[in-house]
Amino acid sequence: MDKTYLEVAIDVALEAGKILREELERPPTIAYKGDFDLVTQADRRSEAVIVGRLQKYFPGHTVAAEEGTGKDTGSEYRWHVDPLDGTTNFAHGYPCFCVSMALARGNELLLGVIYNPVYNELFTAARGEGASFNGKKICCSKIDALKTSLLCTGFPNHNRQFHPNIHYYWDFTLRSHGVRRDGSAALDLACVAMGRFEGFWEFGLNPWDTAAGIVLIEEAGGKVTDLQGQPYVLGGPTILASNGLIHDEMVKVAAELAAHTITQS
Ligand code: IPD
Ligand code: CA
Ligand code: CA
Repeated sequence: MDKTYLEVAIDVALEAGKILREELERPPTIAYKGDFDLVTQADRRSEAVIVGRLQKYFPGHTVAAEEGTGKDTGSEYRWHVDPLDGTTNFAHGYPCFCVSMALARGNELLLGVIYNPVYNELFTAARGEGASFNGKKICCSKIDALKTSLLCTGFPNHNRQFHPNIHYYWDFTLRSHGVRRDGSAALDLACVAMGRFEGFWEFGLNPWDTAAGIVLIEEAGGKVTDLQGQPYVLGGPTILASNGLIHDEMVKVAAELAAHTITQS
């Protein structure tokens, strides 16, 4: 095979994105995985194409896809796939959703691809080769103070009534230019990588939500840890991603908040 892993990932993400655009033209078929956790035909069709293509190109690789149709082959190569990140937005016709794919070898994330098919925005990164947006190199923003930063966060689909993040949202809003809540963690991370946001945090995300965005941010010169400033473990309870320059300030605020907030997931 002549194509690189990244080239294959880009082709597959673009193909899946085309399906999401097609599905957006139809009335959504919504089912629930829990009280508020939506899944649509678009999630399933997109995943079927991605898993099928990856298994054809790389039959030995493990594919870990959100809707559960991937396969663990025991390989050290693992694809983290979110076939539709931002399902709630999609189901309401709000054009903020994407395909997110990353490849890891063991614990090392090798590449990430995030594609918003509505705006045709393609974010790509390969370890050691930098990050790009629609083919042009990108880097995180140079803003170095929380008070002049634009931030972003998200809220989990379960146990929202008990969740402490509303306190973090309130506090960070008062200390910054504002906090957006866009509903697609993968796009939120991509926006940190390209300098639209200075920082992002969230509780309870899964590996398929964050893996691609992490590679993008690290390759764009930013930093990813947990909310305590410790190394982020994929699927860990919290994530904090920033341009690097406001990271310590955000960790400090998060520590003050944690001291005053009861955390339940
Ligand atoms: C969700 C989105 C959202 C985040 C949720 C995720 P999904 O993913 O990334 O921004 O706040 O925690 O579950 O369900 O749309 O793939
Ligand atoms: Ca997701
Ligand atoms: Ca999803």
